[in-house]
Amino acid sequence: MTAAIAPGRSSLHALLRAMPKAELHIHIEGSLEPELIFALAARNGVKLPYASVEALRAAYAFTDLQSFLDIYYAGASVLLKEDDFFAMAWAYFERAAADHVVRAEIFFDPQTHTDRGVNIEAVILGLARACRRAEAELGISADLILCFLRHLSEEAAFATLEQALPYRQHFIGVGLDSSERGHPPEKFERVYARCRELGLHLVAHAGEEGPPAYIRDALDRLHVERIDHGVRCLEDAALVQRLAAARVPLTVCPLSNVKLRVFDRMADHNLPALLDAGLCAMVNSDDPAYFGGYLVDNYLATFDALPQLGRDHAYRLARNGFDAAFATPEQKARWIAALDAAFAAAPAASD
Ligand code: ADE
Ligand code: ZN
Repeated sequence: MTAAIAPGRSSLHALLRAMPKAELHIHIEGSLEPELIFALAARNGVKLPYASVEALRAAYAFTDLQSFLDIYYAGASVLLKEDDFFAMAWAYFERAAADHVVRAEIFFDPQTHTDRGVNIEAVILGLARACRRAEAELGISADLILCFLRHLSEEAAFATLEQALPYRQHFIGVGLDSSERGHPPEKFERVYARCRELGLHLVAHAGEEGPPAYIRDALDRLHVERIDHGVRCLEDAALVQRLAAARVPLTVCPLSNVKLRVFDRMADHNLPALLDAGLCAMVNSDDPAYFGGYLVDNYLATFDALPQLGRDHAYRLARNGFDAAFATPEQKARWIAALDAAFAAAPAASD
């Protein structure tokens, strides 16, 4: 999707496209485009409940998170072999490179696949191979974050962790996704305690559809380092103060929030208010094949609908992404220097 160019904003658009970016909230299964779903279904002999690419795309009319997840899990059913996972991730990396993504921290949902009989080795090795190739051929630094499905049990999460541990060198952290309401963070407190002992980075979805209390509990009971989404924090002033003071990153996903009706229209999105409150928010794509766009599409849609966002906000959002990345100080310094150079090279005057 390409956003319409608002009058007088074309130099800002160019900067939003060109600036180097980190993407910290992307579900790789949510990057599976309908064309690839159909190609993999044909290759693997999987029967889909949709007659064509167009029919599948037409079903992408979501009313909330659960209505999306039902289709998202159906789409992932075509992934069977290591090469399928590689192909999916490689397609994402090619798009990310075009968007000037230089750092990608990629969520994957092993239970979506192992529950269908797919070996976890195929999942992890296929994705890891794409990450290494992205570094070598596209200059994208990439790592994997294993997500537990929160609608499943604590026992299932522990079993998934055990299955994944032989491949520990291929992922840097764990996250928590799927249906948020009714599945509070404390359900996974003991799993996260174990992951913490293992030295894994910790993140969790919270405050997307769920209440601000879930954000607080993700911090206090799961000890997460970042909150995925977190947009509902603004309902709780004390929580906002805490998140700002501790600079807890919020991986905000604007197109996702509109498609899943967290906000009715992009013009209603609270990203400007999050930044005004001093929060470390940044822009991400979440599930780009389902929500109408990749990272640059998210920036363009957000800045077009919210004209109070300008050049300084663009810098801050990109900078927050690098500050929040799970990377070395040397890597971050390199990316921030490239960000500064992109801004220095772009004229500040309006069109
Ligand atoms: N899995 C994929 N996308 C998700 C989202 N936006 N929220 C929760 N779980 C997800
Ligand atoms: Zn997400």
